[in-house]
This record gives sequence, C-alpha cells and structure tokens, in this order.
Amino acid sequence: NKVVLAYSGGVDTTVCIPYLKNEWGVKEVITLAADLGQGDELDPIQKKALKYGAVESLVEDATESFVVDYAFPAIQANTLYENRYPLSTALARPLIAKLLVDAAEKYGADAVAHGCTAKGNDQVRFDLGIMALNPKLKVLAPAREWGMSREEAISYGEKFGLEFPVKKSSPFSIDRNLLGRSIEAGPLEDPMVEPPEEIFVMTKAIADTPDEPEYIIIGFEKGLPVSINGEKLAPVALITKLNDLAGKHGIGRIDMLENRVVGIKSREIYEAPALLVLIHAHRDLESLTLTGDVTQYKRGIEQSYGELIYQGLWYSPLKAALDGFIQQTQERVSGEVRIKLFKGNAVIVGRQSDNSIYAPDLATYGAEDEFDHKAAEGFIYIWGLPTRVWSQKTRGM
Ligand code: ARG
Ligand code: SIN
Repeated sequence: NKVVLAYSGGVDTTVCIPYLKNEWGVKEVITLAADLGQGDELDPIQKKALKYGAVESLVEDATESFVVDYAFPAIQANTLYENRYPLSTALARPLIAKLLVDAAEKYGADAVAHGCTAKGNDQVRFDLGIMALNPKLKVLAPAREWGMSREEAISYGEKFGLEFPVKKSSPFSIDRNLLGRSIEAGPLEDPMVEPPEEIFVMTKAIADTPDEPEYIIIGFEKGLPVSINGEKLAPVALITKLNDLAGKHGIGRIDMLENRVVGIKSREIYEAPALLVLIHAHRDLESLTLTGDVTQYKRGIEQSYGELIYQGLWYSPLKAALDGFIQQTQERVSGEVRIKLFKGNAVIVGRQSDNSIYAPDLATYGAEDEFDHKAAEGFIYIWGLPTRVWSQKTRGM
C-alpha cells in the first residue's frame, strides 16, 4: 500500500506515479531519485514528483558510495563484460536497489517499484538486488506489464494532468552517471550504422582532440587509484578529473554488440573515459606486482566477476567469495603508472612500484646478469619429459 519508486524524472517513471495509484491501487507513492554524478538538477525532479502525486520525494546523493563501494571493486577486478564493457551502468543498479530497500524499511513501505521494461538487464539487476537485500519486499515493475508504447504512456499520463515538455524527443535511450554513458536504440539498432557524433558528451571526436600527446601518472594504493600527477585526490574528484583528461583526447568510446541476460543481442554505445583508463592502468600495475600464476588465475575470477555484475548478482554469495580472493591479491598492488593520452588512445608507457617483483638483475641481457644459465638445461629436460616420452612412443622412435 505504500511503495518506494525509483524515480529519474523521465517519462516512464513519471507515468508510474499515477499508474501505481490508479491501476494497482497503491495508496502512497514515495519517489526516490539517486544522484550518481549524472549531472542532472535533482531539485526540479524532486518537485515534479510531488506535483504529480508522490507523498514524499526523496533525493539521495550517493556519488561517493557509488565510486568507493561499487566502481572501485570493479577496477580492482579489471572487469570488462565480454572483454569490452566496463559496466558503468550495471554498477549503479545494486546501489539504487540498496537505496530503495533502505527507504522502504525507513518509511515502512511493503513494496518498491522501478520503471524498467521487460527486455532489459536493469530489471534483472533491480529485482535481484532488492530480493537479496530484503526478501520480504514486493517488487513492482509497471512498465514491464502495462504494454503501452511511449506515445500511449504520454497520453495516459496526460489524463492525470502530467505535462511533458514538447521538446523534440531523442530517438536514443541514454543512461548516465559519473562513470559513463550508455546509448542505445533509434538509428543505432542497425549495427552497420556509425554512431552519430552528437550522441557523445564525455568524449571528443578524434578530429577535435589535441595534436600533442599528454602524459599523466596515476598512483594506486592497494589496487585503488589515489592520485593523478602526484596530486592526491578523493575518489569522486579523481574520477571527475580523469574523465575530463581522457575525454579531451577522445578516449573511452565503445561500440559493441552485447549479449543481454534475457538472451537478446543488443547494440550499445558507451563512453566511460576514466573507468577504462583506470582498468588498463590497474591491470598493468598488477603485471609488475603480482606473480604470473596469481595474475593468470585472477583472469578467470575477473571474467566471472564481470558476468555476475552484468547479470544482477552483486549481492550473491559467489560475488562475496570472489571479493575475498580479489581483495587478498590487492595488498601489494601499489605504485604508479605512466600513460600517454593521444588521439583516442591511452597508451601505458611506464610503471613503477615499491612492491615490484620485476628483478632487473635476472631480466637483464647485460653484464649484471645474475641468472644461473646452467640451471636452464636441466629444467628444460625435466619440463619436456612427458612430451619426449609421448613422442618416442607415438613416432615409434
Ligand atoms: N546494456 C547496458 C547494461 O546493461 C546499458 C543499459 C543502459 N540503459 C540504457 N537506457 N541505455 O548495462
Ligand atoms: C530497460 O529496458 O529498462 C533499459 C535497458 C536495459 O536494462 O538494458
């Protein structure tokens, strides 16, 4: 009877307010808008919800938690879904689920609601996140069931006095937060169509990027980014600054066909400048500070970790168990990575660490060489023994 609705101020979630009350008999709708650094003015959104019938309109600034509790673990895990998408949208969902559940408990609501459709990943992430945090709460998803087109949703809303500004509506579906933007639909549904320049906001076109490369140094402590060019920065400030630096050089765009949880292939365009640079830099620092076998094993964990996040299983027991492994590996991942930003590329050109296990006296081809050359021959004999025996047998020699 009392419902907390995830509210963005957009058409679908606004129509959800009268729909929940009039079609599903909900008495009180409390809206919740989360500030995740998307850059929207949340004040008008808050007022709009009250005007259209919400009894309470909550606005939560969760940007700091978004970076520290959700993005940072993903950076430590180098997560790229299908080797490309850094999960900028997906990471926001378990946090919003948490905010919804916290509000529902605080205000004594018996259900939470969201405006996701039946074809997307986000419904899965919200539903599973909410269920994991409070299995007693009901999850309502009006847009999954109402079967209205966008035009029909607008005229439905107008019946209840909702006004929608007659701006030329964009054919694109866009999700945005501090970490990035996800753009889909409209002309992008044809995978052969090049993304039009106007959909990008965080990244410059290569034609408009500086003609000189820019070198930056990112400092990490225990796998977490802490500084840029020697300047210590708080998490949100660091991401904001790196978004600007990398975006200015056209770094961070992705154009891919991905496999959604519901089995649909979809064409997605992303821009996530800071997140992509951080993952590449972090992975490089690991190559200097972790042993080969840990790195290799961690690749498999990273793959599973990325799939879990994409598939809405942030609050699952497997995710928690993998966190244990990942955190253990990060103890010594501290140091600096030097990166050249130029014409859409973030090229790693140097790295250093007090915890480096790169041993120059073993690696060198010069006179300082400490490697025991005599050890190689015996090692190769034993290493190759099974193959030698197999070969003798199968070749009859
Ligand atoms: N496909 C991406 C994901 O599942 C982004 C979806 C974001 N929504 C949007 N309206 N573009 O994480
Ligand atoms: C939606 O359908 O709600 C947005 C797209 C997605 O969830 O992937």
